[in-house]
Amino acid sequence: TPCDASDRTALQHLLDTIPTEHPLTTVIHTAGVAENTPLAELDLPRMEAVLRPKALAATLLHELTQDLGLGAFVLFSSGAAAWGGSRQPSYAAANAHLDALAEHRHARGLPATSLAWAPWSEAGMAADETVSDYYRRRGMRPLATDLAIASLQYALDHGDTTVAVADIDWERFPAGFTAQRPSPLLSGLAAAASPGAGADPEDTAAMSDSLRQRLATGTPAQQHQLLLHHVRTHAAAILGHPTVDTVPPAQPFQELGFDSLTAVEFGQRLSAGTGVDLPPTLVFDHPTPKELADFLRERLVEGELTSEGHLLSELDRWDAVCKPSAVDEAARRRITGRLRLLLAKWNDTERDTERSAAHGELETATAEDIFDLISDEFGKS
Ligand SMILES: NC(=O)c1ccc[n+]([C@@H]2O[C@H](COP(=O)([O-])OP(=O)(O)OC[C@H]3O[C@@H](n4cnc5c(N)ncnc54)[C@H](OP(=O)(O)O)[C@@H]3O)[C@@H](O)[C@H]2O)c1
Repeated sequence: TPCDASDRTALQHLLDTIPTEHPLTTVIHTAGVAENTPLAELDLPRMEAVLRPKALAATLLHELTQDLGLGAFVLFSSGAAAWGGSRQPSYAAANAHLDALAEHRHARGLPATSLAWAPWSEAGMAADETVSDYYRRRGMRPLATDLAIASLQYALDHGDTTVAVADIDWERFPAGFTAQRPSPLLSGLAAAASPGAGADPEDTAAMSDSLRQRLATGTPAQQHQLLLHHVRTHAAAILGHPTVDTVPPAQPFQELGFDSLTAVEFGQRLSAGTGVDLPPTLVFDHPTPKELADFLRERLVEGELTSEGHLLSELDRWDAVCKPSAVDEAARRRITGRLRLLLAKWNDTERDTERSAAHGELETATAEDIFDLISDEFGKS
Protein backbone atom coordinates (compact mmCIF):
# COMPACT_ATOMS: atom_id res chain seq x y z
CA THR A 1 0.00 0.00 0.00
CA PRO A 2 1.49 3.39 -0.94
CA CYS A 3 2.17 5.66 2.02
CA ASP A 4 4.21 8.73 2.82
CA ALA A 5 6.72 7.11 5.15
CA SER A 6 7.64 10.46 6.66
CA ASP A 7 4.08 10.96 7.89
CA ARG A 8 3.76 9.33 11.33
CA THR A 9 -0.03 9.03 11.22
CA ALA A 10 -0.09 7.54 7.71
CA LEU A 11 2.66 5.11 8.64
CA GLN A 12 0.87 4.06 11.83
CA HIS A 13 -2.33 3.47 9.78
CA LEU A 14 -0.37 1.31 7.37
CA LEU A 15 1.15 -0.74 10.19
CA ASP A 16 -2.31 -1.17 11.71
CA THR A 17 -3.57 -2.83 8.52
CA ILE A 18 -1.13 -5.74 8.96
CA PRO A 19 -3.18 -8.77 10.07
CA THR A 20 -2.18 -10.33 13.39
CA GLU A 21 -2.03 -13.80 11.85
CA HIS A 22 0.74 -12.54 9.50
CA PRO A 23 2.78 -10.30 11.77
CA LEU A 24 5.44 -7.96 10.54
CA THR A 25 8.86 -9.62 10.79
CA THR A 26 11.09 -7.48 8.57
CA VAL A 27 11.33 -3.79 7.73
CA ILE A 28 13.29 -2.75 4.65
CA HIS A 29 13.51 1.01 4.31
CA THR A 30 14.32 2.04 0.72
CA ALA A 31 12.55 5.40 0.39
CA GLY A 32 14.82 8.12 -0.91
CA VAL A 33 15.09 11.19 -3.09
CA ALA A 34 18.27 11.85 -5.08
CA GLU A 35 20.04 15.19 -4.80
CA ASN A 36 22.20 17.22 -7.16
CA THR A 37 22.74 20.50 -5.32
CA PRO A 38 26.03 22.15 -4.31
CA LEU A 39 26.28 22.92 -0.61
CA ALA A 40 26.39 26.68 -1.32
CA GLU A 41 22.98 26.54 -3.05
CA LEU A 42 21.26 24.51 -0.40
CA ASP A 43 18.12 25.94 1.25
CA LEU A 44 15.75 24.55 3.85
CA PRO A 45 13.00 23.29 1.48
CA ARG A 46 15.54 21.37 -0.63
CA MET A 47 17.19 19.96 2.46
CA GLU A 48 13.84 18.89 3.90
CA ALA A 49 12.80 17.18 0.64
CA VAL A 50 15.84 14.91 0.92
CA LEU A 51 15.93 14.43 4.69
CA ARG A 52 12.25 13.57 5.22
CA PRO A 53 11.93 10.30 3.26
CA LYS A 54 15.27 9.08 4.58
CA ALA A 55 16.14 10.31 8.05
CA LEU A 56 12.62 11.07 9.26
CA ALA A 57 10.90 8.04 7.68
CA ALA A 58 13.55 5.63 8.98
CA THR A 59 13.31 7.13 12.47
CA LEU A 60 9.51 6.78 12.41
CA LEU A 61 9.78 3.17 11.25
CA HIS A 62 12.17 2.51 14.10
CA GLU A 63 9.96 4.17 16.70
CA LEU A 64 6.73 2.56 15.51
CA THR A 65 8.11 -0.99 15.20
CA GLN A 66 10.67 -1.24 17.98
CA ASP A 67 8.36 -3.30 20.19
CA LEU A 68 7.22 -5.71 17.46
CA GLY A 69 10.08 -8.21 17.84
CA LEU A 70 11.32 -7.82 14.27
CA GLY A 71 13.80 -10.29 12.78
CA ALA A 72 15.47 -7.73 10.50
CA PHE A 73 15.52 -3.97 10.06
CA VAL A 74 17.31 -3.03 6.84
CA LEU A 75 18.27 0.48 5.80
CA PHE A 76 19.43 1.46 2.32
CA SER A 77 22.19 3.98 2.94
CA SER A 78 24.68 5.36 0.44
CA GLY A 79 28.35 5.77 -0.36
CA ALA A 80 27.60 9.51 -0.09
CA ALA A 81 27.61 8.94 3.69
CA ALA A 82 30.43 6.39 3.78
CA TRP A 83 33.04 8.15 1.64
CA GLY A 84 31.24 11.30 0.45
CA GLY A 85 29.89 12.64 -2.79
CA SER A 86 29.78 15.96 -4.56
CA ARG A 87 26.50 17.89 -4.82
CA GLN A 88 24.90 15.60 -2.22
CA PRO A 89 25.08 17.56 1.03
CA SER A 90 21.66 16.69 2.50
CA TYR A 91 21.69 13.23 0.95
CA ALA A 92 25.02 12.45 2.65
CA ALA A 93 23.67 13.72 5.99
CA ALA A 94 20.42 11.75 5.59
CA ASN A 95 22.30 8.53 4.87
CA ALA A 96 24.74 9.14 7.71
CA HIS A 97 21.64 9.36 9.91
CA LEU A 98 20.61 5.87 8.70
CA ASP A 99 24.02 4.46 9.61
CA ALA A 100 23.81 6.07 13.04
CA LEU A 101 20.27 4.75 13.51
CA ALA A 102 21.53 1.22 12.76
CA GLU A 103 24.29 1.62 15.38
CA HIS A 104 21.75 2.99 17.84
CA ARG A 105 19.43 0.01 17.35
CA HIS A 106 22.31 -2.42 17.54
CA ALA A 107 23.43 -0.88 20.84
CA ARG A 108 19.90 -1.46 22.15
CA GLY A 109 19.88 -5.09 21.08
CA LEU A 110 17.51 -4.52 18.15
CA PRO A 111 18.19 -5.96 14.70
CA ALA A 112 19.72 -3.46 12.27
CA THR A 113 21.65 -3.56 9.00
CA SER A 114 22.54 -0.40 7.16
CA LEU A 115 24.07 -0.89 3.71
CA ALA A 116 25.90 2.05 2.13
CA TRP A 117 25.54 1.25 -1.53
CA ALA A 118 27.71 2.42 -4.39
CA PRO A 119 25.54 3.22 -7.44
CA TRP A 120 23.54 0.30 -8.82
CA SER A 121 23.87 -0.26 -12.55
CA GLU A 122 20.66 -1.91 -13.67
CA ALA A 123 17.84 -0.22 -11.75
CA GLY A 124 17.11 2.73 -9.51
CA MET A 125 18.12 6.37 -9.19
CA ALA A 126 21.66 5.96 -10.58
CA ALA A 127 20.91 3.59 -13.47
CA ASP A 128 21.70 6.03 -16.23
CA GLU A 129 24.50 5.77 -18.80
CA THR A 130 25.84 9.29 -18.06
CA VAL A 131 25.81 8.72 -14.31
CA SER A 132 27.44 5.28 -14.70
CA ASP A 133 30.14 6.79 -16.91
CA TYR A 134 30.77 9.55 -14.39
CA TYR A 135 31.34 7.03 -11.59
CA ARG A 136 33.26 4.57 -13.75
CA ARG A 137 35.74 7.29 -14.74
CA ARG A 138 36.27 8.04 -11.07
CA GLY A 139 37.02 4.42 -10.31
CA MET A 140 33.67 3.19 -9.08
CA ARG A 141 32.16 0.49 -11.24
CA PRO A 142 28.36 0.52 -10.98
CA LEU A 143 27.12 -2.44 -8.94
CA ALA A 144 25.55 -5.39 -10.72
CA THR A 145 22.20 -6.33 -9.14
CA ASP A 146 23.15 -9.94 -8.34
CA LEU A 147 26.35 -8.79 -6.60
CA ALA A 148 24.34 -6.23 -4.60
CA ILE A 149 21.68 -8.79 -3.58
CA ALA A 150 24.36 -11.32 -2.62
CA SER A 151 26.04 -8.64 -0.48
CA LEU A 152 22.74 -7.88 1.24
CA GLN A 153 22.24 -11.57 1.98
CA TYR A 154 25.82 -11.84 3.28
CA ALA A 155 25.39 -8.85 5.59
CA LEU A 156 22.12 -10.29 6.98
CA ASP A 157 23.61 -13.76 7.44
CA HIS A 158 26.60 -12.30 9.30
CA GLY A 159 24.62 -9.85 11.43
CA ASP A 160 26.60 -6.85 10.12
CA THR A 161 25.33 -3.50 11.38
CA THR A 162 26.86 -1.00 8.94
CA VAL A 163 28.42 -2.12 5.67
CA ALA A 164 29.62 -0.28 2.57
CA VAL A 165 29.18 -2.20 -0.67
CA ALA A 166 31.10 -0.97 -3.70
CA ASP A 167 32.93 -2.37 -6.71
CA ILE A 168 36.02 -0.16 -6.62
CA ASP A 169 38.60 0.11 -9.37
CA TRP A 170 41.62 0.53 -7.11
CA GLU A 171 43.83 1.70 -9.98
CA ARG A 172 41.70 4.82 -10.35
CA PHE A 173 39.60 5.60 -7.36
CA PRO A 174 42.23 6.66 -4.80
CA ALA A 175 44.01 9.11 -7.11
CA GLY A 176 40.82 10.97 -8.06
CA PHE A 177 39.38 10.75 -4.57
CA THR A 178 42.47 12.24 -2.96
CA ALA A 179 43.22 14.73 -5.79
CA GLN A 180 42.20 17.79 -3.80
CA ARG A 181 42.93 16.71 -0.25
CA PRO A 182 44.17 13.63 1.57
CA SER A 183 41.56 11.14 2.72
CA PRO A 184 42.01 9.61 6.18
CA LEU A 185 39.69 6.80 5.03
CA LEU A 186 41.95 5.88 2.13
CA SER A 187 45.37 7.16 3.15
CA GLY A 188 46.87 3.69 3.58
CA LEU A 189 45.15 2.24 0.51
CA ALA A 190 45.96 5.22 -1.73
CA ALA A 191 49.67 4.76 -1.16
CA ALA A 192 49.41 1.10 -2.09
CA ALA A 193 47.14 1.49 -5.09
CA SER A 194 47.98 4.73 -6.86
CA PRO A 195 51.12 5.80 -8.62
CA GLY A 196 49.86 9.38 -8.18
CA ALA A 197 49.49 11.53 -5.10
CA GLY A 198 49.93 8.82 -2.49
CA ALA A 199 52.77 6.95 -4.20
CA ASP A 200 55.73 5.71 -2.22
CA PRO A 201 58.52 8.27 -2.84
CA GLU A 202 61.00 5.46 -3.49
CA ASP A 203 58.80 3.86 -6.18
CA THR A 204 58.25 7.28 -7.72
CA ALA A 205 61.97 7.97 -7.78
CA ALA A 206 62.66 4.55 -9.36
CA MET A 207 60.02 5.18 -12.05
CA SER A 208 61.36 8.59 -13.01
CA ASP A 209 64.98 7.36 -12.87
CA SER A 210 64.26 4.62 -15.40
CA LEU A 211 62.56 7.11 -17.75
CA ARG A 212 65.47 9.54 -17.38
CA GLN A 213 67.96 6.80 -18.14
CA ARG A 214 66.15 5.88 -21.34
CA LEU A 215 65.94 9.55 -22.29
CA ALA A 216 69.64 10.07 -21.63
CA THR A 217 70.65 7.49 -24.25
CA GLY A 218 68.18 8.46 -27.00
CA THR A 219 68.34 10.82 -29.97
CA PRO A 220 66.00 13.86 -29.86
CA ALA A 221 63.48 12.03 -32.09
CA GLN A 222 63.60 8.93 -29.86
CA GLN A 223 63.22 11.10 -26.76
CA HIS A 224 60.12 12.71 -28.26
CA GLN A 225 58.63 9.31 -29.18
CA LEU A 226 59.35 7.92 -25.73
CA LEU A 227 57.68 10.86 -23.99
CA LEU A 228 54.75 10.87 -26.42
CA HIS A 229 54.16 7.19 -25.69
CA HIS A 230 54.42 7.90 -21.94
CA VAL A 231 51.83 10.72 -22.20
CA ARG A 232 49.43 8.67 -24.37
CA THR A 233 49.70 5.60 -22.10
CA HIS A 234 48.77 7.58 -18.98
CA ALA A 235 46.02 9.48 -20.81
CA ALA A 236 44.48 6.21 -22.08
CA ALA A 237 44.66 4.68 -18.58
CA ILE A 238 42.96 7.66 -16.98
CA LEU A 239 40.21 7.77 -19.60
CA GLY A 240 39.68 4.02 -19.22
CA HIS A 241 40.71 3.21 -22.81
CA PRO A 242 42.31 -0.19 -23.41
CA THR A 243 45.05 1.03 -25.81
CA VAL A 244 47.04 4.17 -26.64
CA ASP A 245 45.57 4.13 -30.18
CA THR A 246 42.51 5.90 -28.80
CA VAL A 247 44.69 8.88 -27.85
CA PRO A 248 45.90 10.39 -31.15
CA PRO A 249 49.00 12.59 -30.74
CA ALA A 250 47.36 15.70 -32.21
CA GLN A 251 43.92 15.45 -30.62
CA PRO A 252 43.22 17.99 -27.84
CA PHE A 253 42.89 16.47 -24.36
CA GLN A 254 39.58 18.24 -23.86
CA GLU A 255 38.14 16.56 -26.97
CA LEU A 256 39.38 13.24 -25.62
CA GLY A 257 37.18 13.70 -22.56
CA PHE A 258 39.48 15.25 -19.97
CA ASP A 259 37.84 17.34 -17.27
CA SER A 260 39.38 19.14 -14.31
CA LEU A 261 39.39 16.05 -12.09
CA THR A 262 41.02 13.77 -14.65
CA ALA A 263 43.45 16.58 -15.52
CA VAL A 264 44.61 16.74 -11.89
CA GLU A 265 45.03 12.96 -11.76
CA PHE A 266 46.90 13.02 -15.07
CA GLY A 267 49.27 15.76 -13.83
CA GLN A 268 49.96 13.73 -10.67
CA ARG A 269 50.72 10.58 -12.62
CA LEU A 270 53.02 12.37 -15.04
CA SER A 271 54.78 14.11 -12.15
CA ALA A 272 55.33 10.74 -10.48
CA GLY A 273 56.48 9.13 -13.72
CA THR A 274 58.86 11.91 -14.74
CA GLY A 275 60.03 13.26 -11.38
CA VAL A 276 59.15 16.78 -12.58
CA ASP A 277 56.73 18.87 -10.55
CA LEU A 278 53.93 19.59 -13.04
CA PRO A 279 50.98 21.98 -12.56
CA PRO A 280 47.35 20.76 -12.63
CA THR A 281 46.74 23.09 -15.60
CA LEU A 282 49.11 20.98 -17.69
CA VAL A 283 46.60 19.70 -20.25
CA PHE A 284 45.20 23.19 -20.78
CA ASP A 285 48.67 24.79 -21.18
CA HIS A 286 49.84 22.03 -23.58
CA PRO A 287 46.56 20.95 -25.15
CA THR A 288 47.58 17.88 -27.21
CA PRO A 289 49.70 14.81 -26.35
CA LYS A 290 52.30 15.95 -28.93
CA GLU A 291 52.64 19.44 -27.45
CA LEU A 292 52.80 17.99 -23.96
CA ALA A 293 55.55 15.56 -25.01
CA ASP A 294 57.53 18.52 -26.49
CA PHE A 295 57.13 20.43 -23.25
CA LEU A 296 58.23 17.43 -21.17
CA ARG A 297 61.27 16.95 -23.40
CA GLU A 298 62.21 20.58 -22.87
CA ARG A 299 61.87 20.21 -19.10
CA LEU A 300 63.47 16.78 -18.79
CA VAL A 301 66.18 16.72 -21.44
CA GLU A 302 67.11 20.25 -22.38
CA GLY A 303 66.60 21.62 -18.87
CA GLU A 304 68.75 18.80 -17.54
CA LEU A 305 71.54 19.26 -20.11
CA THR A 306 71.91 22.98 -19.52
CA SER A 307 71.67 22.87 -15.74
CA GLU A 308 74.68 24.08 -13.73
CA GLY A 309 75.00 20.70 -12.02
CA HIS A 310 75.16 18.84 -15.31
CA LEU A 311 77.69 21.26 -16.86
CA LEU A 312 79.97 21.14 -13.83
CA SER A 313 79.84 17.36 -13.69
CA GLU A 314 80.79 17.22 -17.40
CA LEU A 315 83.77 19.46 -16.59
CA ASP A 316 84.72 17.15 -13.71
CA ARG A 317 84.53 14.18 -16.05
CA TRP A 318 86.81 15.98 -18.56
CA ASP A 319 89.17 17.12 -15.84
CA ALA A 320 89.49 13.54 -14.53
CA VAL A 321 90.52 12.06 -17.89
CA CYS A 322 92.56 14.90 -19.35
CA LYS A 323 96.34 14.80 -18.80
CA PRO A 324 98.17 17.52 -20.80
CA SER A 325 101.34 15.41 -20.68
CA ALA A 326 99.56 12.52 -22.43
CA VAL A 327 99.39 14.39 -25.78
CA ASP A 328 102.15 15.88 -27.93
CA GLU A 329 102.91 19.60 -28.08
CA ALA A 330 100.98 20.30 -31.30
CA ALA A 331 97.87 18.61 -29.91
CA ARG A 332 98.32 20.52 -26.63
CA ARG A 333 98.39 23.84 -28.59
CA ARG A 334 95.25 22.94 -30.52
CA ILE A 335 93.40 21.90 -27.35
CA THR A 336 94.58 25.03 -25.51
CA GLY A 337 93.30 27.16 -28.43
CA ARG A 338 89.95 25.41 -28.25
CA LEU A 339 89.74 25.98 -24.50
CA ARG A 340 90.58 29.70 -25.00
CA LEU A 341 87.70 29.97 -27.47
CA LEU A 342 85.36 28.32 -24.97
CA LEU A 343 86.49 30.66 -22.22
CA ALA A 344 86.05 33.68 -24.52
CA LYS A 345 82.48 32.53 -25.21
CA TRP A 346 81.75 32.44 -21.45
CA ASN A 347 83.49 35.80 -20.88
CA ASP A 348 81.47 37.40 -23.71
CA THR A 349 78.23 36.24 -22.13
CA GLU A 350 79.41 37.56 -18.79
CA ARG A 351 80.27 40.97 -20.36
CA ASP A 352 76.88 41.08 -22.21
CA THR A 353 75.09 40.53 -18.92
CA GLU A 354 77.12 43.26 -17.20
CA ARG A 355 76.58 45.62 -20.13
CA SER A 356 72.84 45.18 -20.16
CA ALA A 357 72.74 45.63 -16.37
CA ALA A 358 74.79 48.83 -16.73
CA HIS A 359 72.53 49.96 -19.57
CA GLY A 360 69.51 49.41 -17.36
CA GLU A 361 71.20 51.37 -14.57
CA LEU A 362 72.07 54.23 -16.95
CA GLU A 363 68.49 54.60 -18.07
CA THR A 364 67.34 55.29 -14.54
CA ALA A 365 70.55 56.88 -13.21
CA THR A 366 70.91 60.38 -11.81
CA ALA A 367 73.92 62.54 -12.84
CA GLU A 368 75.60 61.59 -9.58
CA ASP A 369 75.13 57.84 -10.28
CA ILE A 370 76.70 58.30 -13.73
CA PHE A 371 79.81 59.97 -12.27
CA ASP A 372 80.09 57.11 -9.73
CA LEU A 373 79.78 54.56 -12.51
CA ILE A 374 82.45 56.25 -14.66
CA SER A 375 84.87 56.45 -11.78
CA ASP A 376 84.21 52.72 -10.92
CA GLU A 377 84.88 51.69 -14.54
CA PHE A 378 87.90 53.89 -15.32
CA GLY A 379 89.26 54.91 -11.93
CA LYS A 380 89.30 58.48 -10.66
CA SER A 381 91.04 60.85 -13.09
N1 LIG B 1 20.13 3.18 -6.78
C1 LIG B 1 21.32 3.41 -6.27
O1 LIG B 1 22.33 3.36 -6.97
C2 LIG B 1 21.47 3.73 -4.81
C3 LIG B 1 22.76 3.92 -4.29
C4 LIG B 1 22.89 4.21 -2.96
C5 LIG B 1 21.78 4.27 -2.16
N2 LIG B 1 20.54 4.09 -2.70
C6 LIG B 1 19.38 4.18 -1.81
O2 LIG B 1 18.57 3.04 -2.00
C7 LIG B 1 17.20 3.39 -1.89
C8 LIG B 1 16.46 2.93 -3.11
O3 LIG B 1 17.02 3.61 -4.24
P1 LIG B 1 16.38 3.52 -5.69
O4 LIG B 1 17.47 3.57 -6.65
O5 LIG B 1 15.43 2.37 -5.74
O6 LIG B 1 15.60 4.88 -5.73
P2 LIG B 1 14.43 5.33 -6.66
O7 LIG B 1 14.32 4.45 -7.85
O8 LIG B 1 14.53 6.80 -6.85
O9 LIG B 1 13.19 5.03 -5.74
C9 LIG B 1 13.01 5.75 -4.54
C10 LIG B 1 11.69 5.33 -3.97
O10 LIG B 1 11.47 6.05 -2.77
C11 LIG B 1 10.10 6.35 -2.70
N3 LIG B 1 9.84 7.48 -1.83
C12 LIG B 1 10.33 8.74 -1.91
N4 LIG B 1 9.86 9.50 -0.90
C13 LIG B 1 9.04 8.70 -0.18
C14 LIG B 1 8.23 8.89 0.97
N5 LIG B 1 8.19 10.06 1.61
N6 LIG B 1 7.52 7.84 1.43
C15 LIG B 1 7.56 6.65 0.80
N7 LIG B 1 8.28 6.41 -0.29
C16 LIG B 1 9.01 7.42 -0.77
C17 LIG B 1 9.74 6.67 -4.15
O11 LIG B 1 8.37 6.51 -4.26
P3 LIG B 1 7.59 7.35 -5.38
O12 LIG B 1 8.09 6.85 -6.67
O13 LIG B 1 6.17 7.03 -5.08
O14 LIG B 1 7.95 8.77 -5.14
C18 LIG B 1 10.53 5.63 -4.90
O15 LIG B 1 9.75 4.46 -5.06
C19 LIG B 1 17.16 4.89 -1.68
O16 LIG B 1 17.03 5.15 -0.30
C20 LIG B 1 18.51 5.37 -2.16
O17 LIG B 1 18.89 6.53 -1.47
C21 LIG B 1 20.37 3.83 -3.99
